[in-house]
Amino acid sequence: MSDILIIGAGGVGRVVVHKCVQDATFDHITLASRRLSSCELYQKEVKERYNKEIDIAKVDADDVPALVALIKKVKPDMVLNIALPYQDLTIMEACLQAKVHYLDTANYEHPDSAKFEYKEQWAYHDRFKKAGILALLGSGFDPGVTNVFCAYAQKHYFDTIETIDILDCNAGDHGYPFATNFNPEINLREVSSKGRYWENGKWIETEPMEIKMVWDYPEIGKKDSYLLYHEEMESLIKHIKGLKRIRFFMTFGESYLTHMKCLENVGMLGIQKVEHNGCKIVPMQFLKTLLPDPATLGERTKGKTNIGIVAKGLKDGTEKTIYIYNICDHEETYKETLSQAVSYTTGVPAMIGAKMMMQGKWMGQGVFNMEQFDPDPFMDALKNDGLPWFVKEL
Ligand SMILES: NC(=O)c1ccc[n+]([C@@H]2O[C@H](COP(=O)([O-])OP(=O)(O)OC[C@H]3O[C@@H](n4cnc5c(N)ncnc54)[C@H](OP(=O)(O)O)[C@@H]3O)[C@@H](O)[C@H]2O)c1
Repeated sequence: MSDILIIGAGGVGRVVVHKCVQDATFDHITLASRRLSSCELYQKEVKERYNKEIDIAKVDADDVPALVALIKKVKPDMVLNIALPYQDLTIMEACLQAKVHYLDTANYEHPDSAKFEYKEQWAYHDRFKKAGILALLGSGFDPGVTNVFCAYAQKHYFDTIETIDILDCNAGDHGYPFATNFNPEINLREVSSKGRYWENGKWIETEPMEIKMVWDYPEIGKKDSYLLYHEEMESLIKHIKGLKRIRFFMTFGESYLTHMKCLENVGMLGIQKVEHNGCKIVPMQFLKTLLPDPATLGERTKGKTNIGIVAKGLKDGTEKTIYIYNICDHEETYKETLSQAVSYTTGVPAMIGAKMMMQGKWMGQGVFNMEQFDPDPFMDALKNDGLPWFVKEL
């Protein structure tokens, strides 16, 4: 059994804490975040719901020496990075120095540039290998479960996969005119960026929201789905053999897009500092302050999410198409973990990734993406841990 250190007590962090406390794999849990008050809230919930204790600590995850000191004090078997993508490299660096395994849910991003790619995290591979420790990247839903769905399709359904579409639908309604379901800054940087997909060996760039299609999501219905760039495509083109095209689509309602366009037009999505009444502010960070905290949306969100992959390829010389997807209900996830389904669908796979590592089912030395491991134990765990999935032949 194992001891873990979770860094980041936000919307997803809450689910990770609840699910790790529920799972016998984890003996001792320490939750650390920038503000101790965020940790105290979840510590109290755990005591009330499960009559269990977790330790808490305050840490600035941008500060490598502070992280190393905390890791050496707590002596965890692994660190789960559930803070923001900005902290990936500092937490990886601290794990290397303290020689403990690492997991995250999102690709590194520099605060000053809304561009995410694995290059900087993959560059740690040799150092992690030399230290004899594992860094598991992107153990959320997308990236995360979507990568595992692709590996599962490749293992059980195809000789070669030729095309993959990743389809992410959130049909939840929180009743606010405008709010994001995970960290607003990260979310808005992602969806207002140019789109990109990969075809015949090269990346093709599109204007934001330029490509739209309508997909009929099981248990939800037809929804406008827009092509975005998403990080799991970068690792999947390396690891899924024979792939000719991969795209990522996400649903957005008219109201969300109109709000976003308006905010963009007036400069509120800017990520460079501007002068305001004698002080410097970043418009996007100010907007985050004004918007509802995603961690508080759970109580008021109704509806479902449906995230999956459609893979098309060849098996024994015959063409086939399969759709693997999960459906998650916001109200159900709130009952279980006091969180809406977007946090839940990210936090559960983070817990499962950690469980795979701590049970030795997924282990290695170096930096790995999810599809590089055997998908079967992870797929079994999804069924048992609250994210059942379905396979449909189309
Ligand atoms: N793969 C997926 O499917 C997926 C989906 C959604 C989200 N995500 C990722 O999940 C992560 C968490 O998202 P979220 O919605 O939970 O965000 P959130 O609610 O904003 O929570 C982030 C937490 O990180 C903490 N934090 C930020 N900077 C820190 C620092 N320098 N030191 C220590 N702690 C710091 C904050 O701490 P305080 O509260 O203490 O200030 C906050 O509680 C993000 O990386 C996001 O991109 C992944």
